[in-house]
Amino acid sequence: DKIPATLIPGDGIGPEIVESVVEILDSLGAPFEWDRQLAGLAAVGDSGDPLPLATLDSIRRTGLALKGPLTTPVGGGFKSINVTLRKEFELYANLRPARTLIPGGRFEAIDIVLVRENLEGFYAAMEHYMPLGHDPRAIAMSTGFNTRTECRRIVEYAFDYAVKNGRKKVTIVHKANILKALTGLFLEEGRKVAKEYEGRVEMNDRIVDACAMQLVLDPWQYDVIVTTNLFGDILSDLIAGLVGGLGMAPGANIGTDAAIFEAVHGSAPDIAGKGVANPLAMLLSTGLMLQHVGRADLADRLTAGIDRMLAAGLRTRDLGGTAGTRDLTDALLQQLR
Ligand code: NAI
Ligand code: MG
Repeated sequence: DKIPATLIPGDGIGPEIVESVVEILDSLGAPFEWDRQLAGLAAVGDSGDPLPLATLDSIRRTGLALKGPLTTPVGGGFKSINVTLRKEFELYANLRPARTLIPGGRFEAIDIVLVRENLEGFYAAMEHYMPLGHDPRAIAMSTGFNTRTECRRIVEYAFDYAVKNGRKKVTIVHKANILKALTGLFLEEGRKVAKEYEGRVEMNDRIVDACAMQLVLDPWQYDVIVTTNLFGDILSDLIAGLVGGLGMAPGANIGTDAAIFEAVHGSAPDIAGKGVANPLAMLLSTGLMLQHVGRADLADRLTAGIDRMLAAGLRTRDLGGTAGTRDLTDALLQQLR
């Protein structure tokens, strides 16, 4: 049975890596029936609109999208398309798993899943300036908010994820000692949710700055981390760094009615069109997409193939090797056969 899904090739290296991914998914026998749509610069060139209605309609219909990176045009008054998509489809959970795939790096055997609240906090802040004396912008103000409902929903998502994926512990990361209201509410709701999972999933909490230090000194103590929007943004990049950087970092934006899967990295204009982009982050994102639609079997085959390919020594340029996108794609197709 085919599952309709929206496919957005995106900008820069997007079309190259998406092409590689589609080929590999086909060879896996993945059940997706792609509806190709435009967004980003590609869409501006086509219709003048960076996020056309046809693309939004498609995602509304399929509830499932694989998205290449989009170049956010600087200036021109475009809001970030990624932020718009999160809001439009209420994609409240940002899932960022990180696992060591390449042995011999600075950190071995890392396996951490970060769950980031995706709609609130300082990223939904009302920002403005206030004048003082002659300076109209003497004071900068930002009013972020967290709602009790959303705090509960995201922590529940994290605990639920832990149960479904055989994870043992969830760490709630906050700054409730200083941002007593904004992140105190998050911790308060988090503790309530944790009680409901007592005996099934362990819980602890960490202050975000201490957590950042511990992630570098002893990352193995972490299993699932759940945190607010801004902290999650920062810590997820830190965690991606533990496992080899942007080329290895997959992501998912998940809501109740829709989910959008994408690599964490951007459109990499510096290497676009050269055939050297690393498609692994995008491939790992499709692994999450396969799990999401209940095909963990195919996701496992995909990651096992990637493991074998990397064990055989293949590396793209960002990982210090010489392989191009095509080489990696061919090597992986061979591993999957
Ligand atoms: P970037 O992630 O595109 O690139 C940063 C560096 O990492 C570059 O040197 C690039 O060559 C390298 N890199 C990234 N992905 C790679 C891959 N798969 N293989 C090999 N090397 C890779 O970040 P940057 O340059 O800050 O942003 C470029 C554009 O992408 C901007 O317009 C930005 O707004 C957009 N962007 C879009 C995102 C999305 O759609 N989710 C996320 C981040 C940025
Ligand atoms: Mg970020």
